[in-house]
Amino acid sequence: MAQGNGIIEVIEPKAERMFELNDRTALIVGGGGKMGIQFGHTLALAGANVILVDKDSERCSKNAREISQAIGKPVERRHLDSRDDAEVQELFQSLYSTHGRIDILIYNVMTKPDGYYKSTDDYTLETWDGAIAGNLTGAFLCCREAAKFMKPARSGAIVLTSSIYGVVAPDHRLYSDCVAGSNIYDTGESLNCPAVYSASKAGLIGLTRYLATQWGRYDIRVNALTPGGVYDGQEEAFRREYVERTPLGRMATWSDFNGALLFMVSDASRYMTGHNLIVDGGWTAW
Ligand SMILES: NC(=O)c1ccc[n+]([C@@H]2O[C@H](COP(=O)([O-])OP(=O)(O)OC[C@H]3O[C@@H](n4cnc5c(N)ncnc54)[C@H](O)[C@@H]3O)[C@@H](O)[C@H]2O)c1
Repeated sequence: MAQGNGIIEVIEPKAERMFELNDRTALIVGGGGKMGIQFGHTLALAGANVILVDKDSERCSKNAREISQAIGKPVERRHLDSRDDAEVQELFQSLYSTHGRIDILIYNVMTKPDGYYKSTDDYTLETWDGAIAGNLTGAFLCCREAAKFMKPARSGAIVLTSSIYGVVAPDHRLYSDCVAGSNIYDTGESLNCPAVYSASKAGLIGLTRYLATQWGRYDIRVNALTPGGVYDGQEEAFRREYVERTPLGRMATWSDFNGALLFMVSDASRYMTGHNLIVDGGWTAW
């Protein structure tokens, strides 16, 4: 305890210890992805027992292997299609049986069903429903199941990964020089951000606030992380337009969100809930 005027009540834990996650069990849904490996590595370095979960078992195993080699201890991975209610329930039950605790849940999924890049006029209900199910409904299912174990423990940190396009609409002029066939994610259509992405990512921010206010009394914190666009080899015409609109003058790198994530799941943010932390190089600031 600090001596003195009482303004500084507690000087422990020291700064770096606020970010420690020793012994905490951290589940990353979408852990097979490009951001997933960054998040897994970051939390493992902070001492967490990381479990990567994804519907793509191959990518998930590869990420788990790479993190494990980097940190020198095993990293668990499990299969999950977060759209499947029964599978979600079984996974959380099984993880709790194995680990006896679930401290951290990160929902970091991006789903792109067939037809994902089609124009709004041609968008099918099937594609819309598929993206909502993966991006939003799956988040609800995972939060519901995690809370079953976090409530009795009276502790938990949940982060839902949103996007700048859940906060503001895309500037469609970004894509005006993009050419069909040059889309690095899909060869059929030119690069764009479909309406379902914005709707599902905005939905995650609403879900964050709702759950934060409902579960605050159990000391479960629920926050959203809003990353800006990462440079991933997109066409030069797109990159140039994107950078032009970004105050920090560059697209994000994959590791730009690690510090924010660690802050959000650690005791460093213990009084923060219902918040949307925007890490976008200033994209939404103008
Ligand atoms: N990459 C960016 O520029 C960017 C920008 C803003 C926000 N985001 C958000 O960050 C998060 C991670 O993005 P990323 O670029 O790493 O994407 P990614 O495609 O590399 O990873 C997403 C992962 O989600 C998994 N997934 C999809 N549907 C699933 C389901 N139903 N059940 C379980 N797993 C499922 C995929 O298999 C994939 O491994 C996403 O929520 C995305 O919306 C990304």
